[in-house]
Amino acid sequence: MTDLGALTETEAKAELARLATRLAAANRAYHAEDAPEISDAEYDALKRRNAEIEARFPSLKRADSPSDQVGAAPASGFQKITHRVPMLSLGNAFEDEDVHEFDSSIRKYLGLAPDAPLAYTAEPKIDGLSLSLRYEDGQLIHAATRGDGSTGENVTANARTIAGLPQSLTGAPAVLEVRGEVYMSHADFEALNTRQAASGDKTFANPRNAAAGSLRQLDALITAARPLKFFAYAWGDLSAPLADTQSGAITRLADLGFDTNPLTKLCKSPAEMIAHYRQIEEARATLGYDIDGVVYKVDDLALQSRLGFRSTTPRWAIAHKFPAELAWTRLEAIDIQVGRTGALSPVARLQPVTVGGVVVSNATLHNEDYIAGRSATGEEIRGGKDIRLGDWVQVYRAGDVIPKISDVDLSKRKKDSKIFRFPETCPECDSQAIREEGDAVRRCTGGLICPAQAVEKLKHFVSRGAFDIEGLGARQVEQFYGDGWIKEPSDIFRLRPRFASGLQQLKNREGWGEKSAENLFDAIDAKRQIDFHRFLFGLGIRHLGEAAAKDLARHFPDWSALAEAADRAAQEPARNDPSKEALKASPAWASFLDIDGVGRALTQSLVTALAQDHERASIDRLAAELTILPPEAQSNDSRVAGKTVVFTGTLEKMTRAEAKSRAEALGAKVSGSVSAKTDLLVAGPGAGSKARKAADLGIETLDEDGWLALIGAP
Ligand code: IVH
Repeated sequence: MTDLGALTETEAKAELARLATRLAAANRAYHAEDAPEISDAEYDALKRRNAEIEARFPSLKRADSPSDQVGAAPASGFQKITHRVPMLSLGNAFEDEDVHEFDSSIRKYLGLAPDAPLAYTAEPKIDGLSLSLRYEDGQLIHAATRGDGSTGENVTANARTIAGLPQSLTGAPAVLEVRGEVYMSHADFEALNTRQAASGDKTFANPRNAAAGSLRQLDALITAARPLKFFAYAWGDLSAPLADTQSGAITRLADLGFDTNPLTKLCKSPAEMIAHYRQIEEARATLGYDIDGVVYKVDDLALQSRLGFRSTTPRWAIAHKFPAELAWTRLEAIDIQVGRTGALSPVARLQPVTVGGVVVSNATLHNEDYIAGRSATGEEIRGGKDIRLGDWVQVYRAGDVIPKISDVDLSKRKKDSKIFRFPETCPECDSQAIREEGDAVRRCTGGLICPAQAVEKLKHFVSRGAFDIEGLGARQVEQFYGDGWIKEPSDIFRLRPRFASGLQQLKNREGWGEKSAENLFDAIDAKRQIDFHRFLFGLGIRHLGEAAAKDLARHFPDWSALAEAADRAAQEPARNDPSKEALKASPAWASFLDIDGVGRALTQSLVTALAQDHERASIDRLAAELTILPPEAQSNDSRVAGKTVVFTGTLEKMTRAEAKSRAEALGAKVSGSVSAKTDLLVAGPGAGSKARKAADLGIETLDEDGWLALIGAP
């Protein structure tokens, strides 16, 4: 070994590279194979030498330096990384017909004739977890899980341990985010579970859980010991395009050193896509890793960008899923769970059975009609067979979906079996449980007096898409509710003063010390400033999902404006009118219904919830504790952000749907009719009454080219 003092820079660099490889191999041998190659003392000596060289030549420290790979993870979990380009999920297709429909809806959106050429890539959908790798100037800078799509966890140290994952790239764009799937092969999964069982550690249900559990380890040494693999199939932020086509971009990623899936194929028609799907399905059992379908993507990247995204899925891609997997078992009990909105949900308790490699002991029974063998519209399901306690039932699960009961074996039914009677009172609070006309679900009428509803609402309030309060999860909410400390969301923000006197009480509880209590109060205070959409989603109002909350938050300047609009809507006689058109005639209703993604059911549920005195008072108490932040004006630098735009006449460069979603992506509001509130009319050939009305009102009018120039489109 060269004396440190005599080491030249070139020698130092070479030695650091050798040490990195050597130490990584030693880690793997020690943790993965349970077969250390070198003694602990030798290992420590190598690490020390590495640290000494780094101290002498700090500029030579490698991005994958072994000094950075041990322990030292933030105690409270992973740091967060905001994705510059969101990580989305995919829409699903199940039948061949859905694939044809996917193709025709794309043609329609783009205004392409049925026989115009349109190519797609088709590739396996890997059943793992997605990962985004950011390279700057060819160096791996960080790696993040998908998380909620906009913010993921920083798992850089762990990702660096994935075999074959390039740590540096040559010839890549200056900024390149490579996205793909981390997975574990069947063989590695079996071996890992055998090792885990032998050492008395937790075993994993399937390779995907094993991969996820391994990647999300606070100690990167543990990840290093788990044999993870990675397929690249997409990208995020980029400083220069990779290619003109999806297939070209994937080839480029392969050239840069990434593993890409060998079963990726370019197809020229839905028929070819489906044929490739069948081939992959046949090969499925021999691949050695789990896949759960085939992903189709429009090949031309210019078309991909025209097609753009719905709220959480791209229009240009779809996942064609494999059929679900099946098994038979006995139904031991039917439990009724009460949800946040009072819905009574029956759950089947099953004699445990393995379905597609996972042990299943619960399945959803949806609602009382489903148990009775009827669909929501009264048609027979399962040939009209009802489900009874003690029945032999067929369970099916597909991917992540909650297992369902798909069939009943009547030949095994006991003679004395009885039809299941769905409860008409709430099993939690005994209030009446009623079923409104047109609703498949029976609901507890207890509202906040129903402990189950109150707790579920609170759990929803602290959940990830809502207030996401660190240290306050479902378990703590149950505990605090049980203690009477938290009855409604606003109580959470009054915990600290409450505990100024009673801190002792919390400290004495199992799992709580002074520090953790303080941390909790700090985490709560940190959420006193909350994004508008998180606040809305956190309210737990029926039909108000995350995407709709974002849509609402973009269109109302603040909470009081939204609440006032809801109050006005509640006064309207049209309130209970079933027709959307009648409702839209009222400006208060139109201010909701005109928003893309906001429908009648949501608006009605929102207006009703806010008009209920106790519910409103509880929301007001909450709002009084908070500063609700307006949405980061999305693309507010665009010249149309916040403007109300109407399209009329024939558009020649894009379809109406495309025009609408592009305008909305730039922050504009698209309306169907011209009024004094209209800021801009885009009129194509054949425009009639709307153009005249706009002229009367003195509203600015542009033709399609003028519009494209305004939004800076090419
Ligand atoms: S493309 C914008 N390709 O499936 C769409 N996803 O259900 C980017 N996945 O979150 C995804 N294999 O984790 C794509 N060949 C593949 C995939 C794939 C697996 C996962 C991915 C995604 C999820 C959506």
